Amino acid sequence: MASAAGTGAASLPLFLLLASTLIAASASPSSAAAEALAPQELLLNFKASLRDPSGALAGWSRSAPYCNWPHVACTSAAAAAANATVSVSLSLQGLGLSGELSAASLCRVPGLVALSLASNGFNQTIPLDLARCASLASLNLSAGAFWGPLPEQLAALPALVSLDLSGNSIEGQVPAGLAAMGSLEMLDLGGNRLSGVLHPALFRNLTSLHLLDLSGNQFLESELPPEIGRMGSLRWLYLQGSGFIGAIPESFLGLEQLQVLDLSMNSLTGAVPPGFGLRLPKLMALDLSQNGLSGPFPEEVGKCSMLQRFEVHDNAFTGELPGGLWSLPDLRVIRAENNRFTGRLPEFPGGQSRLEQVELDNNSFSGGIPQSIGQVRTLYRFSASLNELNGSLPDNICDSPEMSIINISRNSLSGTIPEFRSCKRLVSLYLAGNGFTGPIPASLGDLPVLTYIDLSSNGLTGGVPAELQNLKLALLNVSYNHLSGRVPPSLISELPAVFLQGNPGLCGPGLPNDCDAPSRKRRGLALAATVASFLTGVALLAVGAFAVCRRLHGSEPSPWKLVLFHPVKVTGEELLAGFHDKSIIGRGAFGKVYLIELQDGQNIAVKRLVNSGKLTFRAVKNEMKALAKVRHKNIAKILGFCYSDGEVSIMYDYLQMGSLQDLICAPNFTVTIVPKCCTEI
Ligand SMILES: *[C@@H]1O[C@H](CO)[C@@H](O)[C@H](O)[C@H]1NC(C)=O
Ligand SMILES: *[C@@H]1O[C@H](CO)[C@@H](O)[C@H](O)[C@H]1NC(C)=O
Ligand SMILES: *[C@@H]1O[C@H](CO)[C@@H](O)[C@H](O)[C@H]1NC(C)=O
Ligand SMILES: *[C@@H]1O[C@H](CO)[C@@H](O)[C@H](O)[C@H]1NC(C)=O
Ligand SMILES: *[C@@H]1O[C@H](CO)[C@@H](O)[C@H](O)[C@H]1NC(C)=O
Ligand SMILES: *[C@@H]1O[C@H](CO)[C@@H](O)[C@H](O)[C@H]1NC(C)=O
Ligand SMILES: *[C@@H]1O[C@H](CO)[C@@H](O)[C@H](O)[C@H]1NC(C)=O
Ligand SMILES: *[C@@H]1O[C@H](CO)[C@@H](O)[C@H](O)[C@H]1NC(C)=O
Repeated sequence: MASAAGTGAASLPLFLLLASTLIAASASPSSAAAEALAPQELLLNFKASLRDPSGALAGWSRSAPYCNWPHVACTSAAAAAANATVSVSLSLQGLGLSGELSAASLCRVPGLVALSLASNGFNQTIPLDLARCASLASLNLSAGAFWGPLPEQLAALPALVSLDLSGNSIEGQVPAGLAAMGSLEMLDLGGNRLSGVLHPALFRNLTSLHLLDLSGNQFLESELPPEIGRMGSLRWLYLQGSGFIGAIPESFLGLEQLQVLDLSMNSLTGAVPPGFGLRLPKLMALDLSQNGLSGPFPEEVGKCSMLQRFEVHDNAFTGELPGGLWSLPDLRVIRAENNRFTGRLPEFPGGQSRLEQVELDNNSFSGGIPQSIGQVRTLYRFSASLNELNGSLPDNICDSPEMSIINISRNSLSGTIPEFRSCKRLVSLYLAGNGFTGPIPASLGDLPVLTYIDLSSNGLTGGVPAELQNLKLALLNVSYNHLSGRVPPSLISELPAVFLQGNPGLCGPGLPNDCDAPSRKRRGLALAATVASFLTGVALLAVGAFAVCRRLHGSEPSPWKLVLFHPVKVTGEELLAGFHDKSIIGRGAFGKVYLIELQDGQNIAVKRLVNSGKLTFRAVKNEMKALAKVRHKNIAKILGFCYSDGEVSIMYDYLQMGSLQDLICAPNFTVTIVPKCCTEI
């Protein structure tokens, strides 16, 4: 057999024929009759080599014609019943199969044209004997838990048109011998562990290829082979995330059938070859993002009249964005953030534009925001933060009915904030770090899903509009403006004070400037600010939410700080009202423990430390943060704490069944946890 294998590709089918009859004879010596096994017997032999825990192939039995078996398809069952050769396809993907896959009998099923074993758990190398499936046109082993090298023997499959080995753990070099598969139209090796250099000869002969996917092979260390650029039938080229280095070959400019080019997340450098786009008339998606590409982007990309996505973000491109880009009729996405692009933004082509997403953050764009932006009816995201844009905001910036995200923070924009009335889908409005003046438009309160508002670090004047209380805000940052007047009550109770700071004219309970009359003070607004009840307070909770609170007793109000590590709906009144003898559930060496039931029914235990000495707020906070992170069955979860001039109250999750009481009143708890907090500082 070894000598037969050496006779070369030309005589291969003959060799296979000989080999298979040889195996048939030796495999079933009892059926001395030399006639080949019927297809159904071959398939049952194959099934016997599989482990099929879910019984997906239980229906494979002699009582039914094999063309009617589950997951088997024949071109014509009638033809199979007669003597004609039919085309057989096995679709065995996602059946939970495993076992020592052996293709020897399978490959003798006449007319086997398609085999999919994708999404199973074979945990083995790719069986070499698959190379005997001479009629196979499509082989799909994707996500089948295959490992080991890519067998060059597969190149011997004379009729193979589609080979999908993606999503396995195939390693080593791509064998140059695959070049023999001249009829291959689709080759997907993505998401494996292929390594080393791609042999240039590999691609020279694969001229019929429509799809080439080598993406997600992070161990490849190769330049892009210029030969790929001569595979004139290529429509889809996926080479992202595969460690490619060097420049984009000029030959890529001539891939006239190309629809998708993804070279993102590699280490490509240098400039995009001049003229890129001139001969790519069918290009729909271009992704060069997250590389080290530099220089200006060739103007000719504006000739790609079918382009829908242009993604070049996170490179080092300079110069202007190609002007023709903006007027491409099908363009939906421009992502150019994190580059060094300069120049003015051109006018949008108004009514014809289908732009949905424009991200230009962190470049050096200058000049104004184009007045035509409001005419793009499809736009849902416009972000151009961290540029040098100036002038005023177009009144119509939010006219697109789809608009959801506007981020033009940190530019040099000025003028007033226009009324935003049309954009009923606006979720995020980030205008921070500009020179906006005038009032915060009350009409923002009418936008039903507006959730994040950052207007910080501008020159805004007037009050915080009461209408903003209509919104379910997760963020309202108006710090560092020139705002004044009373902060609307529900905003002040839900907002950490830091989001209001830097506006000396603002007043309200809990702020440095309390606009309340002294009589009101005595009535005892306890912790003036409460936290939580944000729509998605997650971000806030991660950093700990702050609120300044006031002490109930004492003529000299001393400022308290409330810090929460978990979402707790606690008001200052509840907390301080709870500090009376009836609710004491324990006394420890360092203070009393109170059980407090909150309005929403949650019980929390609060340990009020006395004599905790001269602890600084910062020191307590750091200690509490560390304690809050501890996950131990014997340590109660710390929800937060309240601090005032050295006095500390710690809030714990109240564990039912008395365990918390045992816990925080137990000597070792007091000794190991609290003193650590109290004495080390
Ligand atoms: C058997 O095959 C031959 C050639 O394909 C065909 O002419 C003949 O009709 C077939 N016999 C039956 C019973 O289908
Ligand atoms: C794959 O097989 C090897 C032994 O050959 C075994 O150690 C490993 O746990 C298996 N992996 C899975 C996912 O079954
Ligand atoms: C291979 O099978 C998987 C899972 O069924 C499927 O998603 C994929 O499209 C198939 N590949 C080809 C080339 O048909
Ligand atoms: C190129 O492909 C053809 C089939 O299309 C094949 O006959 C030839 O041997 C291949 N050449 C190489 C160098 O593999
Ligand atoms: C801005 O882009 C540069 C790359 O051009 C990057 O290094 C830097 O981290 C980006 N800055 C921010 C704030 O994202
Ligand atoms: C808006 O831009 C700023 C500055 O680039 C950035 O820090 C912030 O995360 C952006 N916000 C959103 C919602 O994208
Ligand atoms: C915007 O900046 C440019 C310089 O980059 C300057 O010529 C122009 O006058 C400025 N426009 C406004 C409205 O400030
Ligand atoms: C609020 O705005 C100020 C000033 O721009 C900034 O320092 C602070 O980080 C912002 N807070 C949040 C949570 O965005």
